[in-house]
Amino acid sequence: MSRIAGNEQSHRIATDVVVVGAGIVGLAVAWRLAARRGLGVVVVDRGVPGREASWVGAGMLAPATEAQFGEQELLALTLAGNACWDGFAAELEAASGLPAGLRRCGTLHLALDRDEAESLRRLHRFQTDAGLPVEWLTPSRARELEPGLAPACAGGILSPHEGEVDPRQTCAALLRACERAGVHVLAGDEVVEALLDGDGAIRGVVTTSGTRIDAGHVVLATGAWGAPWLPAAARPPVRPVKGQIVNLAHPAGERIAEHNVWTPGIYVVPRADGRVCLGATVEEMGFDVTVTAGGVHELLREAYRVLPAVAELDFVEAIAGLRPGSPDNMPLLGRGALDGLIVATGHYRNGILLAPITGDVVAALVAGEEPPVPISRFAPDRFAVRT
Ligand code: GLY
Repeated sequence: MSRIAGNEQSHRIATDVVVVGAGIVGLAVAWRLAARRGLGVVVVDRGVPGREASWVGAGMLAPATEAQFGEQELLALTLAGNACWDGFAAELEAASGLPAGLRRCGTLHLALDRDEAESLRRLHRFQTDAGLPVEWLTPSRARELEPGLAPACAGGILSPHEGEVDPRQTCAALLRACERAGVHVLAGDEVVEALLDGDGAIRGVVTTSGTRIDAGHVVLATGAWGAPWLPAAARPPVRPVKGQIVNLAHPAGERIAEHNVWTPGIYVVPRADGRVCLGATVEEMGFDVTVTAGGVHELLREAYRVLPAVAELDFVEAIAGLRPGSPDNMPLLGRGALDGLIVATGHYRNGILLAPITGDVVAALVAGEEPPVPISRFAPDRFAVRT
């Protein structure tokens, strides 16, 4: 358990695990460690918990729809991550008394012309070869499922086991569940130094407020910000990948679509209460989070092409966030280069989807157990230059 000593300005805390980063991944890790393993956990976040990438994530749970040729290992992880979500959400709601925000609505992956339909046919073959329970849709079957689709619809794929979560609700529930499980959250405080011993081990961190946190394990869930305070060889190689989204809402709380709707130009995520999230741009712009007229125009135009009823919705906000991308855009998940260091970042487009399974993987690693899914493909040191 955590023990705190000292005055307001300069604390010393001893705990089992310190988690750096209170986005959805860091909070899921902290909750699993505290609630399931009974460990003392301190979470440090440089800002407000849940207010960076998790605040902007659309929350589409779409492993089959987002599957790419040649990414079989990632597909295995994202499928396992998707399967975790129902139990995770139920447990989280019981532990927090708050909604986790999960809706199992399925995804329609649509083509809007013959070229797109042909390319979707290839993806459908890849998905069925991988054993995914997907259904090819003729244009009329797609319209039967989603009557508001534009006439241009040229066919598509239904992934019935997919869904969506509202990551803002999930993070609020996680924060409450963490609090109830005794997790100590230090918000608005930033890690500036690693406590290293002479034998290549990390034994805690120091923050800008002067708090020294001694811990048996340090978990990096720092998203696009990485860990500049670690020795160079132990830093996760991440870069920020900007995503702009637009949030809309039906004035009377009605849903303009039942399923997630995905085309090559857009995804539309309809929430249960009539809110709709349109996502997302993918931009290599460093740490820039400016919302641009071009980004918003593109999202609204592409959404209108497939679901003209978006034009009837109220505009709520346009906002940008930063996905953490690794050099191959696969997660960085596993033991780090220092004894006691565990890396849980680089989730790129899959941070929300993979948060629950990442919590389980990290909890197993801290306990010295085999992780529940194979993670060797995602080893954080796979980019290290070996001499
Ligand atoms: N998973 C969707 C995105 O990152 O935009």
